Amino acid sequence: MPLPRVLSGVQPTGNLHLGNYLGAVRNWAAGQDQYENYFCVVDLHAMTVPHDPKNLAAHSYTVAALYLACGIDPHKSTIFIQSHICAHSELAWLLNCITPLNWLERMIQFKEKALKQGEDVGVGLLDYPVLMAADILLYQADQVPVGQDQKQHLELTRDIAQRFNFLFADPEQPVLKIPEPMIPQAGARVMSLTDGTSKMSKSDPSDMSRINLLDPPDLIEKKIKRCKTDPVRGLWFDDPERPECHNLLTLYQVLSGRPKAEVAEAVREMGWGQFKPLLTETLVEHLRPIQTRFAEVMDEPAYLESILAAGRSRAEAVAQTTLGAVRAAMGLSRPL
Ligand code: TYM
Repeated sequence: MPLPRVLSGVQPTGNLHLGNYLGAVRNWAAGQDQYENYFCVVDLHAMTVPHDPKNLAAHSYTVAALYLACGIDPHKSTIFIQSHICAHSELAWLLNCITPLNWLERMIQFKEKALKQGEDVGVGLLDYPVLMAADILLYQADQVPVGQDQKQHLELTRDIAQRFNFLFADPEQPVLKIPEPMIPQAGARVMSLTDGTSKMSKSDPSDMSRINLLDPPDLIEKKIKRCKTDPVRGLWFDDPERPECHNLLTLYQVLSGRPKAEVAEAVREMGWGQFKPLLTETLVEHLRPIQTRFAEVMDEPAYLESILAAGRSRAEAVAQTTLGAVRAAMGLSRPL
């Protein structure tokens, strides 16, 4: 029996933060033996908001190096850069032609990001979920491991695939596989350190709102010391009145690997003065080996390039097979 296939990706907007790690990359690494894995750096997605061309390539390499540093094993997983495989853009175009505009206008992330950009909003931002659907459908992925914020995009991907199959495929022989979202139980929505009601995000102007995977220990300590808390004594999970408390306890729980009930018992009577150093230490110790490995990978550019080249060629073969089937189903002539 072939293993079920997973595909996922992260945008190369510089460093990764704890949300990207706990919501996505850590779970990719943990599941590697159970799946056939494809992990890409989605550089075409990073262009949907204003970007600096001087940094884009370097950021893509940084994110690929972070995948390795977080435990993605190139012998078990195919790691590649999205734009190196033209089939992503081509399938996105073909899917554009069957995607109703109002499906895209409904997307929450589009509405939020468009609001921030005002009149500058590009067509790429609206079309972003179709490119994401192309990423997933090209690899006929069974599962897509992502954080909670991508759930709506996954539902759209399923709708697009179903519509494609309905319009162009024999019901007995669908061309595109309908993927399932894979969202972790804890860590699916890591919240900002400065506001427990909003998501930790790369686009927050304040770096104090997030822990980046490459933050040095003294910066982590400073961020945790200054992060938002409340004046209540005693700590507990799941209180809607205490979103920061729930978020920080969840971070501690997932990073320490201890069961929730055990953590709840241990922190019940703690104050912030006692808990914050504990969380800081857990964070620093968890990130230390990732940072060490990252530095090693970045010291050996030829190694990283060889992984990306091998990844590209494996991914390209799968992508071209699907693209060929889609082109044929849609009635395009065969390239001569
Ligand atoms: P991106 O780059 O915004 O985020 C990458 C991954 O990190 C997760 N994530 C979070 N998880 C928990 N808490 C948070 N605060 C948090 N912030 C981000 C995201 O859910 C995601 O899994 N459109 C995608 C990238 C993409 C993709 C794909 C993903 C493009 N093509 C195909 C899967 C499959 C995005 O912008 O993710």
